[in-house]
Amino acid sequence: MSGSPQPLLDARNLTRQFVVRQGQWPRSRKALLRAVDGISLRVMPGRTLGLVGESGCGKSTTGRLLLGLLAPTAGGVQFDGAPLAVAGTAEWRRQRQQMQMVYQDPLGALDRRLTVARQIGEALEIHHPALPPAELAARVAAVSAAVGLQPHHADRYPHELSGGQRQRVVLARALILEPRLLVLDEPISALDVSIQAQVVNLLLDLQETLNLAYVFISHDLKVVRQVSHEVAVMYLGRVVETGDAEMLFRDPRHPYTRALLAAIPVVGRRPPADTLLQGDPPDPIDPPTGCAFRTRCPLATALCADMAPVLRLLPDGRQVACHVTAPDAAALAAA
Ligand SMILES: Nc1ncnc2c1ncn2[C@@H]1O[C@H](COP(=O)(O)OP(=O)(O)OP(=O)(O)O)[C@@H](O)[C@H]1O
Ligand code: SF4
Ligand SMILES: [Mg+2]
Repeated sequence: MSGSPQPLLDARNLTRQFVVRQGQWPRSRKALLRAVDGISLRVMPGRTLGLVGESGCGKSTTGRLLLGLLAPTAGGVQFDGAPLAVAGTAEWRRQRQQMQMVYQDPLGALDRRLTVARQIGEALEIHHPALPPAELAARVAAVSAAVGLQPHHADRYPHELSGGQRQRVVLARALILEPRLLVLDEPISALDVSIQAQVVNLLLDLQETLNLAYVFISHDLKVVRQVSHEVAVMYLGRVVETGDAEMLFRDPRHPYTRALLAAIPVVGRRPPADTLLQGDPPDPIDPPTGCAFRTRCPLATALCADMAPVLRLLPDGRQVACHVTAPDAAALAAA
């Protein structure tokens, strides 16, 4: 037996299509939108996978698929070596205790009528109705302290707290069931810049103390670099580059990854003109033939219009889907 650890989360060929209406009534017609198109992701225990890409590329849909909050059209997810159970079943509830979602907007995620202590303890009460009140209170107090809330916050209501404190309540509520994985969907983008670093540091501390795995979805590539061990870059529902975070940020290979990283503002440095991202992503209902990025890619060739590149494993361990920067023998022969 090899000693390599088993992934906590292992998603294979995850696909989700939505049926949408296109055009104006009465001429509107049904169309298929491939929000997530055959992606495979792995998250190891205690590690962070950063998920990046422009708005609409399928990050949140992927997050919901990973937790079984949305059923895939094809493909599937294994959690801790077992397939995700059907939503609503007892087995799914057991699995869901171990995997929690944290959203961008803490106020929207909290119940305005419940005090901080009540909402943090709510899930524990539901899952363990026989728990003595003193033990419930002790666990709420312990998890509140772990996320940096003060004892006097316990009786407050969400609107009486700052944005950063509310996000701490959301985290405490997610952590009370002692999960092993958090899917964090833009967890800091609604917060003041001055508070963002505190919440990021808290997430890093919690990961180390509790050996939590994270799927960290964010537009903020600087933060993704700071928190992630691995990164997956998505474009129009597909992963175009994935691998070790440090390697990917230091030496991006896919033209889209290069363009995204070049767009990170750096004082005193202008991005090279050939990496500037032009225009908007194409309509996901009517994506370009071949490589979906070709309409914005400075390196596109005739082959890119004919054949969609598949993810190819490079010698350094990363995977890249590009005919030019990660060519495969069959594609070269067809060129
Ligand atoms: N329930 C739905 N019905 C129809 N289309 C949907 C639905 N949910 C998502 N989509 C579409 O799927 C695509 C991916 O959406 P998703 O919200 O996953 O993107 P995202 O990467 O999270 O974007 P953002 O960065 O803006 O949050 C988009 O084109 C979106 O309009
Ligand atoms: S396959 Fe072609 S169009 Fe797509 S990213 Fe590579 S060079 Fe650009
Ligand atoms: Mg989203």
